[in-house]
Amino acid sequence: MQIEKSLNSIIHQDCVDGMKALPDSSIDLIIADPPYNLSKGNKWGWDKSVELKGMGGVWNKVMEDWDCMGLSEYFNFTLAWLTEAKRLLKPTGSIWVYGTYHNIGVINFVFQLLGIEIINEVVWYKRNSFPNLSGRRLTASHETLLWGHYGKGKRKYFFNYPYTKNGDFAEDLLKKKGKQMRTVWDIPNNKTKVERKYGSHPTQKPIRIADRIISIASKPGDVCLIPFCGSGTECVAAKMLDRRYIAFEISEEYIKLAKERVEFTEPDLFVKGDESR
Ligand SMILES: C[S@@+](CC[C@H](N)C(=O)[O-])C[C@H]1O[C@@H](n2cnc3c(N)ncnc32)[C@H](O)[C@@H]1O
Repeated sequence: MQIEKSLNSIIHQDCVDGMKALPDSSIDLIIADPPYNLSKGNKWGWDKSVELKGMGGVWNKVMEDWDCMGLSEYFNFTLAWLTEAKRLLKPTGSIWVYGTYHNIGVINFVFQLLGIEIINEVVWYKRNSFPNLSGRRLTASHETLLWGHYGKGKRKYFFNYPYTKNGDFAEDLLKKKGKQMRTVWDIPNNKTKVERKYGSHPTQKPIRIADRIISIASKPGDVCLIPFCGSGTECVAAKMLDRRYIAFEISEEYIKLAKERVEFTEPDLFVKGDESR
């Protein structure tokens, strides 16, 4: 199994199959933004204002097949891709997984089943979140990230502590320069015009959050695995930060978008220079 031929590419393949073809302990950082299992139907479309019954209010309803599974199916799917992720991680590497309460419990449970130690649970606070239209519950205004590693009892994972303490996080109203970074991150969810220049994805993440994750948990030249590429946000950030990446995506439409975004990455898309990265 060779990794070189897959480097810096976005591969049109199911991530579990794709990961199976990669060698053990070959990846420094995994950033996974899996389906949250929010969709309740299989008709394409998305609507910011639709309330999902029993799901806690207004979420960006995706309504795509890839986001619609039964609970057992979602568990089996999570177990399958996280089993491969664990095999691929170097002892010095780590994994970040996005979620909301709809799916993060399953991710947490599977981490524990597989012996992936949770380093931190991060709350991504979205100060500009969309209001709750029904007025029947609180306004959902955060997502969760689980950060874990598989060190078999040892903690060798890379952590860029100086960056977290002294980096430039001017936009984050909760982060004070020179103070330790906390587990609540205030990162606006809005995407700049440049980030949407080639089109958009219903669950596209802002570049700013990928920048922060990559800068915290990897070094230049490291290999990042992106199992669920979507519009390529994490690939763009990896390229900008001189990391290498391997990404998988099942939708041709998003592959096209991601490839364009990566190819035409522009320096002004990104956060200003910060030596501590
Ligand atoms: C939550 S989105 C990722 C969004 C991404 N972070 C961005 O900023 O654009 C998840 C993506 O995973 C893709 N996907 C779903 N199941 C997959 C699988 N088994 N293998 C690879 N990609 C998959 C979907 O098509 C979707 O584009």
